[in-house]
Amino acid sequence: MTLEEQIDKDRLPQHVAVIMDGNGRWAKSQGKDRSYGHQEGVAAVRKVINAASVIGLKYLTMYTFSLENWKRPEEEIEALMTLLVTAIQGETPDLMKKNVRLKAIGDLSRLPESAYQALMACIHETSANTGTTLILALSYSSRWEIVEAIKTLAVELTEKKLNPNDITEAMVSDHLTTTGFPDPDLLIRTGGEKRISNFLLWQLSYAELYFTDTYWPDFRDEELYKAILYYQQRERRFGKTSEQLIL
Ligand code: IPE
Ligand code: IPE
Ligand code: MG
Repeated sequence: MTLEEQIDKDRLPQHVAVIMDGNGRWAKSQGKDRSYGHQEGVAAVRKVINAASVIGLKYLTMYTFSLENWKRPEEEIEALMTLLVTAIQGETPDLMKKNVRLKAIGDLSRLPESAYQALMACIHETSANTGTTLILALSYSSRWEIVEAIKTLAVELTEKKLNPNDITEAMVSDHLTTTGFPDPDLLIRTGGEKRISNFLLWQLSYAELYFTDTYWPDFRDEELYKAILYYQQRERRFGKTSEQLIL
């Protein structure tokens, strides 16, 4: 049986989030510069979106650029932003064909105009698609979005539209950029590091974590399927005991 056939399609994670790490180290290992790694990273993104839509994954979030990544050398940022525009424009027909709907989370106001426009055009064009929802985390920081949520709630408190005791977990979730999306069930991080790097801190509360040493440009369908099989072997207890789950 292939890895894909081993997956129980009735027990798929609803939402898979991916920290695509290791482009730079992959390029270095080939004696190339970092931007070549990012370029090859796009090919991996294409393959994984295809694999996700083949198995019928509902939500796929990809950490594409963090708020902290703005601190990288200017030429790397420029290369990444140019690549983003080319990739979005180049992939839109394929997203349409695969019935994929594009969304984005993060501080999009910091994106260069060309990247912002390309992103918005693709989001608009794919908005009626009903297959996989692909969410790009761009200029994203989890702490940033939590602070933004607190600011909005604080304004509602000072304007007396809200009482402190009325604040619920659902209300906090609704004020994050991920509002409307289910929390990720599975987080994948490539590139060998075992950290979260300011990604979806609130939303990952009960996600299963899957780490692989594979650098992102080498990540393929089989790697995604392996991670999903790992997820399907986990017992998600959400604080309860095993015995309680059978009842
Ligand atoms: C991930 O690869 C892509 C981005 C963060 C934009 P890196 O560029 O972080 O690659 P490494 O971790 O330096 O190898
Ligand atoms: C996380 O990777 C961000 C993305 C994959 C976009 P980094 O390479 O920026 O993370 P750190 O700096 O190693 O934690
Ligand atoms: Mg990295």
